[in-house]
Amino acid sequence: MKRVLVVLSVFLFFAVLAGGVFAQVQVGIVLPTKDEPRWIQDQTRFLDALKTAGVSAEVLFSQGDSAKEKANVETLITKGIKVLIICPQDGTAAAAAANAAAQAKVKVISYDRLIRDTAAVDYYVTFDSVQVGAAWGKFLVSKATGKANNLYLYAGAASDNNAFLFFEGAWSVLQPKIADGTFVVQNSDKAVGLSKKAKLSRDEQASIIGQVTTNWNFSDAKNKAEANLTAAPAKAKGTVYICAPNDGTARAIADAFAADKQVTKYYITGQDAEIPSLQYIIDGKQSMTVFKDVRTLVSDAIAAAVAFSKGQTPAKTTTYDNGKIQVPSKPTAIVTVTKENLKAAIVDSGFLPASNFKGL
Ligand code: BGC
Repeated sequence: MKRVLVVLSVFLFFAVLAGGVFAQVQVGIVLPTKDEPRWIQDQTRFLDALKTAGVSAEVLFSQGDSAKEKANVETLITKGIKVLIICPQDGTAAAAAANAAAQAKVKVISYDRLIRDTAAVDYYVTFDSVQVGAAWGKFLVSKATGKANNLYLYAGAASDNNAFLFFEGAWSVLQPKIADGTFVVQNSDKAVGLSKKAKLSRDEQASIIGQVTTNWNFSDAKNKAEANLTAAPAKAKGTVYICAPNDGTARAIADAFAADKQVTKYYITGQDAEIPSLQYIIDGKQSMTVFKDVRTLVSDAIAAAVAFSKGQTPAKTTTYDNGKIQVPSKPTAIVTVTKENLKAAIVDSGFLPASNFKGL
């Protein structure tokens, strides 16, 4: 009896050891780039949450390159993942990677950005991106009085479906105020040409985004803002309202406007609640950001992955059209953050400690 127990314990010991050391990666996570604080934030939150969830996963970065992204997905498929959580660098180019995963019977969760033009997307985990844009619009409108206020529009990368959703949200609030003369768009003749139209087609949106894109790139954003300021007459300056698409580009654009002596005051939007932008808000150099609590996105993504691996279907409240299918989703709400509620929304909520900030 004793012998049997010893053999059994030795067997169990090695079985547990093998399970730990040789456990297959069940979930593969692919994020767009390490070069923006936003995606490092997501990685950190994923690693924290995975530990608690007891899910084995590997995170890879695509460094802004769709070919690398596809190679990352192929590596993860070879490692035996059952679920892929992927934030595409380029929404359309990523269809090939999603198709490869689907062929290998891997469930595909589009994370934050939607993969377009393929049926190989099982679920979309996202914030309400139309509301992000609407929050910019509402903020700028709340600061404007009288007529003919100078408005500068900027957008994200046209390869990112979110850039369209953000723009759609912003346009839904700003367009009536452009049409009634509250604002005059100073850096896009396409936007001026379409200013009587409440709902734009994707092509019309693309024509404006094409003129005001930052490509989500800080130096592109700075160069575009400087070029716009060089081209603008003095009367297009003074107090200005700037719709900037995220925190990284907002800081670059804000610096360019702050450096122009003819700009006496500027209001500028953002999103992501990046630490340097929160500091800019405290210092009065950025006016607002949209806080997207990545902890919720990460836990929704893990919950969806767990549901799929159990053969279940994750919760759905709406669908998003990816050009090919309606992708099921349960978008997460967003919060507007200004100097007034920064401490409550960011620090008191436990998102970031106060030690990150000076002068809070
Ligand atoms: C994300 C933003 C991010 C931007 C640039 C968007 O798809 O939703 O949070 O700032 O990409 O990386």
